[in-house]
Amino acid sequence: MKKIAVLTSGGDAPGMNAAVRAVVRKAIYEGLEVAGVFNGYQGLIEGKIELLQLGSVGDIIQRGGTILRSARSAEFRTLEGREKALKQLKLNGIEALVVIGGDGSFRGALELTALGLPCVGVPATIDNDINGTELTIGFDTALNTVIDAIDKIRDTATSHERTFIVEVMGRDAGDLALWAGLAGGAETILVPEEKYELPNIIERLKSGTGRGKKHSIIIVAEGVMSAAELAEILKREAGIETRISVLGHIQRGGSPSARDRVIASQYGAKAVEVLIEGRGSIAIGMRNHVVVEYELADVFEQSDGLDMDMYKLSKELSI
Ligand code: F6P
Repeated sequence: MKKIAVLTSGGDAPGMNAAVRAVVRKAIYEGLEVAGVFNGYQGLIEGKIELLQLGSVGDIIQRGGTILRSARSAEFRTLEGREKALKQLKLNGIEALVVIGGDGSFRGALELTALGLPCVGVPATIDNDINGTELTIGFDTALNTVIDAIDKIRDTATSHERTFIVEVMGRDAGDLALWAGLAGGAETILVPEEKYELPNIIERLKSGTGRGKKHSIIIVAEGVMSAAELAEILKREAGIETRISVLGHIQRGGSPSARDRVIASQYGAKAVEVLIEGRGSIAIGMRNHVVVEYELADVFEQSDGLDMDMYKLSKELSI
C-alpha cells in the first residue's frame, strides 16, 4: 500500500483534529502518502482531495472542530454516489480510507468496503453511541462542557431555590445525560433507554423540597423529549415551576480534553497500522482501557446499551 486517505464525517466532535493528525503523522512515519478528503463523503464525491504533509496537521491537536470539515451527504447514501466516490479515490491513487465519525459514517465505510475498498472506522461522536467501543472521541470533552454548565446553573438554581431542567444532546443514546447527571449530582436523569415514570419524578422533587432542598437539577437527554416539553408537563401535572437550559451545539465545540487527545492519537495510529497489515472493514475502539480492533459489521449487529450499573448508581446517590 502506498497511499491512503482520511476524512471526517457526520456531527463533528472535539478531538477529531487530533485523530486526523495521528493518521497523517503515523502514515508518513510508516512511509505512506496520505491525502485529506474535505467535507466528508460529499467532498469525496466531489473530489475535494488534497495531499497532506507533516506540517498540514501542525498546531491542530488542541483545536475543536475538524480542519477537514464535515458534512452529511444524501448523495452518498445512493449506490451511484458511492461509485462516484470510489472513482475519485481511484483517480487520486488512493488504496484505503480512514473514516473518523459516528455510526452513520461507519455505515458509509462498511458500504465502501462492500465495493472493495479497505476502510477503517475511528469512532468520534459526542454521543458515545458506537457499539463495540466503551469510548468515542469527543465524549469526554462534551461531558466536561455539560458539567461546567451544570455547575453554573446550580449556582443560580440555589440562589433562587429553583428547579432547572437541562437538555443535553446524545441523539438516541443516554450516555452523555447519564454521565453528566452522575458527575453533576443531578436529582433526576432521563435517558431514552429507560422508561421514565412521571409520578416518580414529581415525588422526588416534592420530597426534596420537603427536606429543605434549595434546588433541583433534572437532566433530560434530547432523545427522551425537549426540556420545554418536560417543563410544560411538570407545570400542568404538578404545578411545578421550572427554568430550562438547552445546551445545544456548545457541547460539540471547544478544545479537546487531554483524554480525548490521547484516545484520538491512539485510535488514529491504530487505524493506519490495521491498514498496513492488510485488513479493511475494521472498527477501532476501547475495551477495558485497551485499544482494540473489531469487525466494522459488528457495530450494526450488537447493541451495547446503557451502563445499567451506572444508571442504578445515579439513582441511589440522588435520593
Ligand atoms: O451526533 C452528534 C449530535 O450532536 C447529536 O447529539 C445531535 O442529536 C445531532 O448531532 C445534531 O445534529 P446537527 O448538528 O446536524 O443538528
